[in-house]
Amino acid sequence: MASRLIASSLESTVKLNDGVIMPLFGLGVYQIENNCPQLVAAAINHGYRLIDTAEFYHNEEGVGSGLKQSGKKREEIFIVSKWWPSREGAQGALKTLDRCLKGLQSDYVDMYLLHAPQGGHCAEAYRALLDAKKQGKIRSLGVSNFGVAHLEALAKLGLDKPSVNQIELHPWQQKKDIVKYCREHDIAVMGYSPLAKGHRIQDKTVGEIAKKLSKTPAQILIRWSVQNGFITIPKTSQESRLQSNADVFDWSIPEEDMKVLDAFGDKPWSCTWNPTNNTLKEAGLQ
Ligand SMILES: NC(=O)c1ccc[n+]([C@@H]2O[C@H](COP(=O)([O-])OP(=O)(O)OC[C@H]3O[C@@H](n4cnc5c(N)ncnc54)[C@H](OP(=O)(O)O)[C@@H]3O)[C@@H](O)[C@H]2O)c1
Repeated sequence: MASRLIASSLESTVKLNDGVIMPLFGLGVYQIENNCPQLVAAAINHGYRLIDTAEFYHNEEGVGSGLKQSGKKREEIFIVSKWWPSREGAQGALKTLDRCLKGLQSDYVDMYLLHAPQGGHCAEAYRALLDAKKQGKIRSLGVSNFGVAHLEALAKLGLDKPSVNQIELHPWQQKKDIVKYCREHDIAVMGYSPLAKGHRIQDKTVGEIAKKLSKTPAQILIRWSVQNGFITIPKTSQESRLQSNADVFDWSIPEEDMKVLDAFGDKPWSCTWNPTNNTLKEAGLQ
C-alpha cells in the first residue's frame, strides 16, 4: 500500500515503487513561455526541487536553461516531463524523449509520463520507454490521466507498474476511485491543477476558511492537496507568488474545514480535460 505522506517542507520526499526518491511539492510550468528560465531559476532558488513540464508545454528547453541559471547541480532538481501519446507510438515516444533530453541539456529525465491514455499506442510506447529507462534515459516511468481501467490494462499486459499517476485533483475534482486504486497498488498520486486553474479562487466558502485561518484562498487550495498526501504542483507565472504558494507546510486546515472542502466533491466540476474515461482502444491498451 502506497503511503500517504504529507509534505512538511519543500524538501519533503516520497520513495516511489521503483525506489526513486521524489519531492512531494513543485512548480508546474504549463503555459509558461518567455519567462520560463527566470521563473524556474527563481523557484529553485526559493527552494522548489521539482519542476513539472511536458512536450506539450513547449518549454523543456526553458526548464533546462532555468536549471543551469539556478546554479544547482542537475541531481538536486527533479524534472518531470511527458510524452504526448500519438499515432507515432513507440518510435514517436523515443524521438520525443531524445528531444526532451536535448531541451533539458541532460542525459536523463527524472520522471517521464505518458501524458494521457490516447493516441492508440500507449502499450507499445510504454514498453519502449521501459527500455529507455533500462538505458538510464529515464529514472522513473509513470502515467497521467489514467483511469482505473487503464491502470488495470497495463497490469494485465504484464508491464511494470507506473510509479505515479498524475491526475486533476482539487476540492471540486477528487477522483476518489482512481486515488483509491493507486493507493492500494502502491502508485503515487500526483495532483495537477491544485488551484483549479484559478477559476474558483473567489469561492465564498474557500474565502471564509482563508479568512479564518489568516491565509490566502490559493494557500487553502494548495494546502488541501498537500494535506491529502498528493504530490502537489501549483503553477504560477509570477515570481512574487512562488513564496506564498509554498508557505503551506507549517500549518494545517482543521478537520472540520477539510470536511467542508471535501464536500465540494459531491458536485464534481472539472477545470480542464478529462481523458480518464477514454476507451482502452483509444489508449491502445487492449
Ligand atoms: N497532466 C496533465 O494533463 C496536466 C493538466 C493540467 C496541468 N498539469 C500540470 O499541473 C500544473 C498546475 O496546474 P495548472 O497550471 O492547470 O493550474 P493551477 O496550478 O491549478 O492554477 C494556475 C492558475 O492559478 C493562478 N495562481 C497561481 N498562484 C496564485 C495565487 N497565489 N493567487 C491567485 N491565483 C494564483 C495562476 O495565475 P498566475 O500565473 O498569474 O499566478 C494560474 O492562472 C501545470 O502547470 C502542469 O504542470 C498537468
